[in-house]
Amino acid sequence: MKSNIALIGFMGCGKTSVGKILAKRLGKRYISTDLLIQKIVKKSIPRIFKENGEIKFRELEIRAIKKISKVKNAVIDCGGGVVLNFINIQRLKENSHIIYLKANPKVILKRIKKSKNRPLLFGKNKLEKIKELLQFRKPFYERAADYIIDTTRLNVKKIVEKIIDFVRKNEGKNLAK
Ligand code: S3P
Repeated sequence: MKSNIALIGFMGCGKTSVGKILAKRLGKRYISTDLLIQKIVKKSIPRIFKENGEIKFRELEIRAIKKISKVKNAVIDCGGGVVLNFINIQRLKENSHIIYLKANPKVILKRIKKSKNRPLLFGKNKLEKIKELLQFRKPFYERAADYIIDTTRLNVKKIVEKIIDFVRKNEGKNLAK
């Protein structure tokens, strides 16, 4: 039976704040792919992107997911680009319900504007960049998802409730596609 919940979705869609509260509510362990990667290489995400490039970061992400997907009874906060490599989704699906948190680009911009930790959104024209990345990634997120929640107008508490409802209803079901 799947005992993990993996949260996927674009930056600023609430994966981290929802993940921490959800884990507490369900008595599960909270695990973040970004935190694990930073621990493995002892560098911040912006430094990895700057010194090693995005491709190296994606390799580290694959390593992190491989490790994490074996864990049981966890809420997994996945970096926004985890879906780009299908192997990550295959591995996550073994033990996890996959929940896609989405939001509209303007809300995403508002939520990430001050972030110093998202190298893909450094620089100007952030809204354009968000729209461009979202358009490209949309099919990846949708294909991976067992359940989709639009977080644009929802608070964290409501999102947590929706996830708990979904997981309870689908416990024991084989959601593999
Ligand atoms: C990324 C999202 C980030 C982090 C990295 C790349 C992405 O995680 O993994 O900056 O490609 O969308 P969050 O989604 O937790 O911000």
